[in-house]
Amino acid sequence: MSMREKLELLQQKRAESELGGGAERIQSQHDKGKLTARERIDALLDRGSFVELDRFVTHRSSDFGLADEKYLGDGVVTGHGRIDGRPVFVFSQDFTVFGGSLSEAHAEKICKVMDLAVKTGAPIIGLNDSGGARIQEGVASLGGYAEIFLRNTLASGVVPQISAVLGPCAGGAVYSPAITDFVFMVRAISYMFVTGPNVVKTVTHEDVDFDRLGGAEVHAATSGIAHFVHDSELESLAAIRTLLSYLPSNNLDGPPIHPTEDPADRRDEELLDVVPDSPSTPYDMHDVIRRVVDGGGFFEVQRDFGGSLLVGFARLAGRSVGVIANQPAVLAGVLDINASVKGARFIRFCDAFNIPLVTFEDVPGFLPGVAQEHGGIIKHGAKLLYAYCEATVPKLTVITRKAYGGAYDVMNSKHIRGDYNVAWPTAEIAVMGPKGAVEILYKDEATEAREAEYREKFAHPYLAAARGFLDDIIDPRDTRPRLIDALVTFATKRDRNPPKKHGNIPL
Ligand code: HXC
Repeated sequence: MSMREKLELLQQKRAESELGGGAERIQSQHDKGKLTARERIDALLDRGSFVELDRFVTHRSSDFGLADEKYLGDGVVTGHGRIDGRPVFVFSQDFTVFGGSLSEAHAEKICKVMDLAVKTGAPIIGLNDSGGARIQEGVASLGGYAEIFLRNTLASGVVPQISAVLGPCAGGAVYSPAITDFVFMVRAISYMFVTGPNVVKTVTHEDVDFDRLGGAEVHAATSGIAHFVHDSELESLAAIRTLLSYLPSNNLDGPPIHPTEDPADRRDEELLDVVPDSPSTPYDMHDVIRRVVDGGGFFEVQRDFGGSLLVGFARLAGRSVGVIANQPAVLAGVLDINASVKGARFIRFCDAFNIPLVTFEDVPGFLPGVAQEHGGIIKHGAKLLYAYCEATVPKLTVITRKAYGGAYDVMNSKHIRGDYNVAWPTAEIAVMGPKGAVEILYKDEATEAREAEYREKFAHPYLAAARGFLDDIIDPRDTRPRLIDALVTFATKRDRNPPKKHGNIPL
């Protein structure tokens, strides 16, 4: 065969590999409103930057007639490319080949890009669309999943790991995303479950459909497994690009700096009127965050879960920060189980990847009650406490109003290594609110006068400031310039925890 004929053969094979499970199954994928594995990669990466690896890999099975059914690439497209010019590694499962199910060879391809990502110090992005372990391969496939889980775990805290779930994902196909840092889902396209509705019916006799068992809304609002939910795959893939713009490529790098037009010394008059005069009137903490950060940009994480605590990424003078904020507009900003778990995981991500923490605090305490106690609020609240205590990145706190009880300690207080702790003049810092306090102290003799006395004594920030627990009490209008100054000052902060194998966060 001449060189030209050999090249011709190469072209044919490349074209074959790009067809995945064939034109008919691609059509079926499109008919379901889904993009193909390759279309997804094209939408995710900078144009023309994708370099594919292992396109000629095939499975090595012969049982169940598989010897005659081989597809180049074996159901997953892998390689590397760029997002905003920065290298990333990617795998994208191809549902048109055995339902994107994971064979031993398919797993090896994923493991190869995961290993390269860790070695290179670049994020790994998984686009999952898979029926789980390839049933025909048995334990070889299970072993393949275990290899991936191990790598997910070892890469955790080393490079950002991002998962999009873009199809009906079952079994092993959901456990890998669950170990990664962020999970993206799309309404009416993404499903995650350990096992689907049919098996559920057999085992528990429950009648449930795909959506109610493991749809995007369920995982965004109820289980908390999905961090982001969108209406279309294209929006979801674009959001992954946005998320990465806030993150460093690995744990030894700093996040990229994005120059801003928003002046570092900008004061905001409106902040004077955000906190209502009455301490029990709610307000939306988003208003505070947006008025402080660069250009009002707040990339919120887990928006539909644990709504009494807001978490997300923003920038101050171009530098990435992780924002954690009590939300007085939801349950008065109380810390419940979901809010605690949400906050803890976000803080640990930021700390692992050198992203400073900015806390806006207005919290009446932990949510009491039988359901919360039996659900383990003690253990889950302790996660948030642990995460804040353990974090060594720069940690800034602004108390806008209430900082009561244990929640005062938890929300990045000075005592747990807050670097810059300030309060607005509206802050109230005490063991509990005035009404509850006098009821406990005076029981039947609790009077309004006693409540007023307690309020006057404790419902302000000056006692905390007198002890140095607050570094300053600031004019709300100065919040942005003060935080930016602190961020720049503490950018070179060095702190470390005692040497240990690892801590034991209360799981
Ligand atoms: C091999 C599979 C497959 C699998 C789907 N297919 N799942 N092939 N192994 N696990 C194939 C189908 O045979 C079909 O082939 C094609 O993919 C599309 O599947 P459909 O069923 O036609 O599609 P749909 O109706 O959309 O349903 C998708 C699905 C369903 C919900 C994912 O296929 C399903 O329930 N699959 C099994 C899920 C599962 O139980 N997996 C094992 C989990 S255990 P053709 O040739 O017709 O195109 C596991 C162990 C790891 O993963 C444990 C880790 C902790």
